[in-house]
Amino acid sequence: MVDSERGGLKLTRLSDDLPFGAIVHDLTLECLDRARTRQALYDLWIAEGVVVFEGVAGEEMQLKLSSCFGKLIAHPTREARADHPALMTVRYQPDDGWLLTVNGESRGSWLPWHSDLIYVDRINRGGVLRPVKLPSSLGETGFIDKILAYETLPDRLKSRIEGLDVIYQYDLDPAHQRFGRTADVTVERYTEGIRSIQSRLGEFPRVIHPMVYVQQGTDRKVLNVSPWFAVGIHGMENTGGDALLEEVAQHIVRSPHVYLHHWKMEQMVLWDNWRVLHCSTGCPQNEERWMLRTTIEGDYGLGRTERNANADGLDYISV
Ligand SMILES: [Fe+2]
Repeated sequence: MVDSERGGLKLTRLSDDLPFGAIVHDLTLECLDRARTRQALYDLWIAEGVVVFEGVAGEEMQLKLSSCFGKLIAHPTREARADHPALMTVRYQPDDGWLLTVNGESRGSWLPWHSDLIYVDRINRGGVLRPVKLPSSLGETGFIDKILAYETLPDRLKSRIEGLDVIYQYDLDPAHQRFGRTADVTVERYTEGIRSIQSRLGEFPRVIHPMVYVQQGTDRKVLNVSPWFAVGIHGMENTGGDALLEEVAQHIVRSPHVYLHHWKMEQMVLWDNWRVLHCSTGCPQNEERWMLRTTIEGDYGLGRTERNANADGLDYISV
């Protein structure tokens, strides 16, 4: 079953059809004390972008595993467990949760393709997600590799986007998404927190990120576009610029190389937020989905707020 052993890790490919992603088997708390194992996990994360861990459970494991990849961000009290501020709750319940209509069907906490925190200047390095309670169907997390997206982009588009930047604006209503839409969406019910955010969107400055950048240490180019939250190309907020951004965004979201993770208990998934996009297929309206996420700190140093706006102290909900 195990394809290879790298740095003592027992590995299989995530899929024979995908050039990214790996599965790690038989990881234990004790082996995370070994520097060699921690380095091998870090190297695997950079090489593969998405890593699934099979047969792992519990808060201690999630926190210790996450610490292999960097410092963890503590979340605002509203989203975090009081005893573990590094664990963010991602939860939909039938009577309390974000409910949307997606292509005519009710879905709890459906999320379009996005990079976490792309709507601020410092996008976090990654995260580790773990299920606490899963619905009987749906509830998947999807991943798209933006290195592969760049490699498969037609040459005529590669030359047109070289040196361009994308503008992002915080707005959690997916019905307002302008580029790379994959579904007709309307919000049926907000959470209190999201409703509060939506009532004061003007507080959040627009931010700018490069459309292409080079992954540190590998020289691989990343097609750095998050369809959700993108509002235009910097200096090209016009019909031509919008058409270009839509063509690039559609290239990404129509990728034939999507990995859709069908969750089981005693799994964790690590992703490189600088390299892969993710989405959530949401869960059935009358079922619960409860996940816990860590957020790995980092700054790739390429984002900036528009007009040097001061975004310190703003109260964001992280998605
Ligand atoms: Fe997210």
